[in-house]
Amino acid sequence: MRAEKIMTNGMDPDMQRALEGYDERIAAERDGTPVIEGHRHMAVGPETGQLISLLARALLAPRILELGTSFGYSTLWLADAARAAGGHVTTLELEPAKSAHAAERLQEAGLEAHVTFLTGDALKILPGLAGPFDFVLVDHWKDLYLPSFELFLPKLAPGAILAADNMIRGGGDGTAQSAYAAAVRATPGMSSVLLPIGTGVEVSRYLPG
Ligand SMILES: C[S@@+](CC[C@H](N)C(=O)[O-])C[C@H]1O[C@@H](n2cnc3c(N)ncnc32)[C@H](O)[C@@H]1O
Repeated sequence: MRAEKIMTNGMDPDMQRALEGYDERIAAERDGTPVIEGHRHMAVGPETGQLISLLARALLAPRILELGTSFGYSTLWLADAARAAGGHVTTLELEPAKSAHAAERLQEAGLEAHVTFLTGDALKILPGLAGPFDFVLVDHWKDLYLPSFELFLPKLAPGAILAADNMIRGGGDGTAQSAYAAAVRATPGMSSVLLPIGTGVEVSRYLPG
């Protein structure tokens, strides 16, 4: 089995179909047929999808926060994990057209009950979210990683897991990602490691003393 092949053992058939749909639309986008004019998927990809799914599934009834829904690819993986673990996903996206597209895809996959879609600027929405959160996927614009971290840190439950994407490549020159990693690693109670999966995922666990 090739490393990037999606693990389908026991996967819900609707989830599998939804992933295949993403593969087809992303391939069409690469060939010059965008799903939404002027926007791209920028999806985390299958390996990172599997990683965030298995991390979230390991938690009990996880309250999942996603920053950067885009077309809903990573949301699909997280919602599938939320269904399996009895949790819920709250996902934030700046672009209304992307949010709407993602909601349709999640509905097709039968996962809409496990997701709340919020549209707008994460930096404005985060202060109003009650939390606590047990899992956070950080995957919006890279210069927002650090200011977002400062806003969601007080809302993390003990034992919360963070996964930040594009920590090795994708998304500028990496300065913003380095600033995020430095801040996370300097936070008391945070353990953090950079995994060379997909475009690089910084996985962190928060266990305040
Ligand atoms: C890399 S893409 C997310 C990809 C998605 N996680 C996936 O794997 O399918 C980043 C997304 O963050 C969104 N974004 C950018 N700035 C934002 C903000 N201030 N608040 C919320 N979302 C934002 C962009 O519109 C874009 O759709």
